[in-house]
Amino acid sequence: MPENIAPQKLDVTIRINGKTYARKIEPRTLLVEFLREACDLTGTHVGCDTTYCGACTVLMNNLAVKSCTVFAVQADGADIITVEGLEKNGKLHPIQKAFGDSYGLQCGYCTPGLMLATHQLLAENPEPDEKQIRKAIAGNTCRCTGYVNVFKAIELAGRNMKGASVGD
Ligand code: FES
Ligand code: FES
Repeated sequence: MPENIAPQKLDVTIRINGKTYARKIEPRTLLVEFLREACDLTGTHVGCDTTYCGACTVLMNNLAVKSCTVFAVQADGADIITVEGLEKNGKLHPIQKAFGDSYGLQCGYCTPGLMLATHQLLAENPEPDEKQIRKAIAGNTCRCTGYVNVFKAIELAGRNMKGASVGD
């Protein structure tokens, strides 16, 4: 490629799961690509790349976003939580535990995104009813479970976390 049309690279620094990652990237790099390819955090999945499936959901400054819809440069300076950031010191986060205990997954491809969407829901509403759960995960597609056990997992996570902060 001639030098004058070589892609421009920008410096981006993002705090992910409490650790700072500084990288030089092309402006077109999506946040999900930054996570998976530049930072080797492959727990965030790509299902559609078109903002439909929610497999790529992460928390950006405590709000659930579809990371295939955010350019990494837009996350410069942000705090990101991915599924790798839920477990602490070898102990599963209550949301992770509830998904396991309730059999809220089968292939697991959608699960990281669902757990981060759940994280935001429970931060805002620790005791969601089924209608509120359905609304909160409307942007997360699961092709395996039929959602019944996903709803149970989210209700259980809410019950288990009563009185605790979602960051626990
Ligand atoms: S990969 Fe982002 S919504 Fe499907
Ligand atoms: S568990 Fe397979 S897509 Fe949800």
